[in-house]
Amino acid sequence: MELAQRVQQLPPYLFARISQLIAEKRAAGVDVISLGIGDPDLPTPAHILDALKEASDDPANHRYPESDGLPEFRRSIARWYENRHGVILDPDREVVPLIGSKEGIAHFPLCLINPGDVSLITDPGYPVYEVATMFAGGETVKLPLAEEDGWLPRLDDISADVAARAKILWLNYPNNPTGAIADLAFFERAVAWAKAHDVAIAHDLAYAEVSYEGYEPPSILQVEGARDVAIEFNSLSKAFNMTGWRVGMAVGNAELINALTRVKTNMDSGIPQAIQQMAMAALDGPLDAVEEHNAIYTRRRDRAIEVLRELGLRVEPPKASLYIWARLPEGERSSADFAGRLIDQTGVVVTPGMSYGAAGEGYIRISLTTPDDRLDEALSRLAKFARGEQVL
Ligand SMILES: Cc1ncc(COP(=O)(O)O)c(C=O)c1O
Repeated sequence: MELAQRVQQLPPYLFARISQLIAEKRAAGVDVISLGIGDPDLPTPAHILDALKEASDDPANHRYPESDGLPEFRRSIARWYENRHGVILDPDREVVPLIGSKEGIAHFPLCLINPGDVSLITDPGYPVYEVATMFAGGETVKLPLAEEDGWLPRLDDISADVAARAKILWLNYPNNPTGAIADLAFFERAVAWAKAHDVAIAHDLAYAEVSYEGYEPPSILQVEGARDVAIEFNSLSKAFNMTGWRVGMAVGNAELINALTRVKTNMDSGIPQAIQQMAMAALDGPLDAVEEHNAIYTRRRDRAIEVLRELGLRVEPPKASLYIWARLPEGERSSADFAGRLIDQTGVVVTPGMSYGAAGEGYIRISLTTPDDRLDEALSRLAKFARGEQVL
C-alpha cells in the first residue's frame, strides 16, 4: 500500500526529540512539567457549561446540525463583532461557524488554491497554514519575520513573481508563537497590498481575547474596505477556555465565506447544536471571566519573565497571546539543544522556536497555561538551574 504524496509529504514531527526525552525522563520517575502547550488549564466558566447542560436535554439538539450553523448563533457572532470590534456583519452572508478555528483554517485553501498556486505564510508561524496549502495542491512561500520588525512581515519585499502566483496571505496577530501584535496601520498596509495584487488575506485572530494591561487586539475587518479581500478566523477556545468544545468562526468577505461554507457542507455536518448554544451563552453573556483569566495570565507572565531573565534569556513582556517568546542567551545557537538541556536537567519542557520555522531558531516559546502551583515549581527549578545548582 502506498500512501498518498500529501501524507508522505507531511513534515517530520519536530518535537520528536523532545518527546523522546520527556518519555525517558518520565520512565525514570522524573516529575516532568510542560510549559509547551497552549491549552488553557482553567475550566470553562460555569454559566457557559450550564447552557450546554440545558441544551443537551433538548431532543432537537440530538439530530444533525446544519453545516452553516444555527441562524441565531450566526447572529450572536455578528453581535459579538459589533460590540467587540465595531464591525457590522451580515450574519447570513459574512459569518460561518467552525468546528474550532483550526477546522476552517485547514479547509480554507481548498476554496482558493489550485495546483501551483501560492500561500504566503510567515516564518515562524502556526504550522496548519502550510500543511493545509499543501493538501490543496499549493505551495507556500515563507515571509521571514524578525524581532527588529516587531515580527511583522515586510510586504514590500515580496517579489512581483511571487505576488502574481499568490492567492492567500496568512496573518496571525496576536501571533503564535512570538506573542507579537499588529496595529490597524499594519492591517491597512496589508489590505492595500492584497488589493493591489488580487490576493485574499486570511487573518487568524484566535488570541483576540488574551491580552494584558487593557490592550485590545483589533480585527482586520476594522480596516475600511478589508472585507473586499479578507476573511478572519476566530475562536472561543482561548477566550473562554473552550478548546475541548471545538467551536470557532470565520467572518468577512461574503464570497469567501460562501465558498468555505460550500466546502464544509461537503466535508462535515457542522457543530453539535448544544455546543452552538453554549457558544452563544459565551458570546452574549458576562465577560468577567475573560478579565479574570487575563489577570491570572498577567501574574504568570510577570513571574515567568523574571526567572527567564535570570536564565540569561532576552524577553519582552507580550501585550497579548498565551506565549512568552524568549531569545536564547548569547552563545546558545540551537533552541532544540537548549530545550533538551532544560528537560534533561530540570524536567521542565519548553518549545524550541525552530519548531515553528527556521526563523524561530534562537528562541524558545513558553506557554502560560500551566496551573499556578506547577508553574511556580517549574520556575523555581529554572531559577536553581540559572544559579548553577543541581535541580533533579
Ligand atoms: C494561531 C492559532 N490559530 C488557530 C488555532 C486553533 O484553535 P482552535 O481550533 O481551538 O480554535 C491555534 C491553536 O492553538 C493557534 O495557535
